[in-house]
Amino acid sequence: TYVIVNGEFINRSEAKIDIEDRGYQFGDGVYEVIRVYNGKMFTGTEHLERLIDSGKKIGMDIPYTVSEIKQQLESLIDKNRLNLGTLYLQVTRGIAPRNHAFPSNDVSPTFVAYSKEVGRPVENMKTGVKTILNADIRWLLCDIKSLNLLGNLMAKQKAVEAGCFEAIQHRDGVVTEGSLSNISIIKNGKVITHPADNLILNGITRQKVLEICRNNDIPSSETPFTVDDLKSADEVFLSGTTVEITPIVEIEGEKVGNGSLGPITEHLQALFVKEIE
Ligand code: PDD
Repeated sequence: TYVIVNGEFINRSEAKIDIEDRGYQFGDGVYEVIRVYNGKMFTGTEHLERLIDSGKKIGMDIPYTVSEIKQQLESLIDKNRLNLGTLYLQVTRGIAPRNHAFPSNDVSPTFVAYSKEVGRPVENMKTGVKTILNADIRWLLCDIKSLNLLGNLMAKQKAVEAGCFEAIQHRDGVVTEGSLSNISIIKNGKVITHPADNLILNGITRQKVLEICRNNDIPSSETPFTVDDLKSADEVFLSGTTVEITPIVEIEGEKVGNGSLGPITEHLQALFVKEIE
């Protein structure tokens, strides 16, 4: 399969990363994961705009426009004959002798993208997933899709070790997001999710869900909610590029609602599937 390294299409086995690439040494860079359905990127523009925005927030100018990256990714999809899967792309601050300070402007970013064949998470979407609660110990710029994922990795690992799929993170009693997804609760027919501030990644799927709510007269609100609200919610679901809309049926061993996919989550799933078809 082909991968893209700095605008060039090369074989996966030929891709090499320098040991002093700042992404490798410091996690100094940003990334995106984009779904491909029927050979086409889903919400590609939104993801690429966020990539450039994440770059700006860490003082890094990504040397391509949204449409230039889009063209490259479309070629990658074609060359790899990808029908259903994901694209991973990351941009690091480039290669320079190890130094915490940013290198000078003549050091150009390293841009990498590759594709992966992967099916939709249909099983989890039907049966739902189990979760744990976990203190959100991450930094205060979670709106940046940074390569620095240690906090997220440790949260996810804790969930896996408890036989669960995701960790629901909370700060001062307020639920923020998962390790790789956003979290919404449904209470009395209303979808509630954390506001898009510095404490969460403003998920593209999250934004899609809110748009679906607006267009279909489903009440929704971007309001902080507590762990207690979470535990007493009628329905809870994860949203994200890889998980789409996945119901949470258990939190710390306790059932959410009656412990199965709830009616509003199911309705949202159906409306979401219409968008990706
Ligand atoms: N994760 N929150 C976090 C911390 C995430 O890592 C992600 C996505 C999301 C959902 O965002 P979106 O709807 O734009 O995919 C929320 C990607 C898929 C990953 O790291 O694999």
